[in-house]
Amino acid sequence: MKAVYNPCVSTAQPSRSALFPRSFTKAYPQAVRGEGVWLFDAAGKKYLDFCGSAVVNFIGHGVKQIADAMAEQASKLEYVHGSQFVTDVAEQFAREVLDFAGENFRGGAVFFTSGGSEAVETALKLARQYQVEIGQTKRHRVLSRRQSYHGATMGAMAVSGNLLRREIYLPMLRDSTKINSPYPYRCPYHCTDQCDKCGHKLAQELDEALSSCYGEAAAFIFEPVSGATLGAVTPPNGYLRDIAGIARRHEILLISDEVMTGFGRTGRNFCYEHWSKGDWAPDIIWPNIAARLECAMNPPAETNRASPVATAYARYRTHSV
Ligand SMILES: Cc1ncc(COP(=O)(O)O)c(C=O)c1O
Repeated sequence: MKAVYNPCVSTAQPSRSALFPRSFTKAYPQAVRGEGVWLFDAAGKKYLDFCGSAVVNFIGHGVKQIADAMAEQASKLEYVHGSQFVTDVAEQFAREVLDFAGENFRGGAVFFTSGGSEAVETALKLARQYQVEIGQTKRHRVLSRRQSYHGATMGAMAVSGNLLRREIYLPMLRDSTKINSPYPYRCPYHCTDQCDKCGHKLAQELDEALSSCYGEAAAFIFEPVSGATLGAVTPPNGYLRDIAGIARRHEILLISDEVMTGFGRTGRNFCYEHWSKGDWAPDIIWPNIAARLECAMNPPAETNRASPVATAYARYRTHSV
């Protein structure tokens, strides 16, 4: 096995890796195979993959049906540019995703991207474009929450709340207004009941932040259950319904980041559904499925708002995200 060069390890290293590592202080085992919940390295060591990489391979590793379907499609047609063609497989899959998303997304549309961060960037641009298309040209700000994670690209970092991951890039970012995340262990209101009654107060923060945005807010982004930077923290009852009502009242879009929670990972098709009886839904969600295939979705005309994303987009579209 070819050893990986690590400048921080004093033992002799036979050759320098061509890969830029995630960490220079760590020597990584070489993964060679995956099967179900197991990963195997080059030395034959077996690892139980409790977290499905970054909650990505959530139906297990090495699923033959997926590999076969990918190979079959790649041998027929591997790629065409979306500005020139559509394909039947993409259309069919988009329909499946919408069906899976349920009644609130009937008549919506799916935009495929190749990763979570790219999906976030797309959602941010889509929110801005929607506001422009309906004549709300002042609306450009996207509000978000502290201790959130929405990805590694510049736009995604701007709306993310993790201090350490953003620190050195701050001068390069166009920062967003941030409100507190529900976090019972370190409740911003120092409650002693696991935030049982904090939902309303926490949601009010969005109302206040929007009121001081001079009508420039376009959208609010949130993770229904926090993932990468606030381990699996769930919101108090009533919080998300309040948030949805506030978003509607201020005429901004609600964007649910379901990269960590979508496609059944929390027991519902999409996580926000735990706190919705079908009476509200986000305007855009982006889930993440194995192989990092992602999408942003727009809701149908009949649901939450007078000027829905899909309608505005279809009627007024002048340029593409
Ligand atoms: C909630 C959330 N949003 C967005 C992303 C970015 O996804 P990606 O790593 O595919 O760019 C992540 C990644 O972990 C995430 O946890």
